[in-house]
Amino acid sequence: MITLSKVTFDDYNHYLDLLVLADESEEIVKSYLYEGHLFAAIDLSGNCVGVSLIIEDGTETIEIKNMAVTPSQQGKGYGKEMIKLICELYKQKGFKVITVGTANSSINNLAFYQKCGFRITHVRRNFFANYPEEIWEDGIRALDMVMLNKYLVIK
Ligand SMILES: CC(C)(COP(=O)(O)OP(=O)(O)OC[C@H]1O[C@@H](n2cnc3c(N)ncnc32)[C@H](O)[C@@H]1OP(=O)(O)O)[C@@H](O)C(=O)NCCC(=O)NCCS
Repeated sequence: MITLSKVTFDDYNHYLDLLVLADESEEIVKSYLYEGHLFAAIDLSGNCVGVSLIIEDGTETIEIKNMAVTPSQQGKGYGKEMIKLICELYKQKGFKVITVGTANSSINNLAFYQKCGFRITHVRRNFFANYPEEIWEDGIRALDMVMLNKYLVIK
């Protein structure tokens, strides 16, 4: 079991090691870090086991901009629980949809988000095609951004 703890702005940089797990570099993470609300997932012993950076897009939609679970704690259900708690929190605030984008090559993430109830909405073709460095995962080049969403309220 975990609880969500809102991280204060001044402490955001203490979580960079975790945030970098979900992106290519610290520089890229820093380029969007302060646009979002950062939540730490705290386990029953009081340890931080993961983070999630949420961007509010208007008044109806939130986006998971970054999400990571400590490597030694992955596969224990913490990621799924974090998504559930974030959905509950933002549903209470009146938000209706949660979105996330992940690369076509991020097979693990595509599996994870679909297991958390997300559905693919569209694909941003060539999103990664002009990145300065090519990105490859599992022998697949990252070219397209696959967008997924989940409704916080029954449609
Ligand atoms: C992706 C990530 C956040 C998932 O968190 P997690 O705590 O390991 O995932 P959970 O244990 O909650 O898994 C939830 C479900 O997703 C599935 N899942 C998780 N990782 C998976 C993988 N690599 N491949 C296939 N399925 C996976 C689990 O089997 C589980 O399925 P179930 O509901 O049927 O039991 C975590 O692995 C991570 O931090 N990865 C590195 C950073 C990253 O890539 N972040 C995402 C990009 S924003």
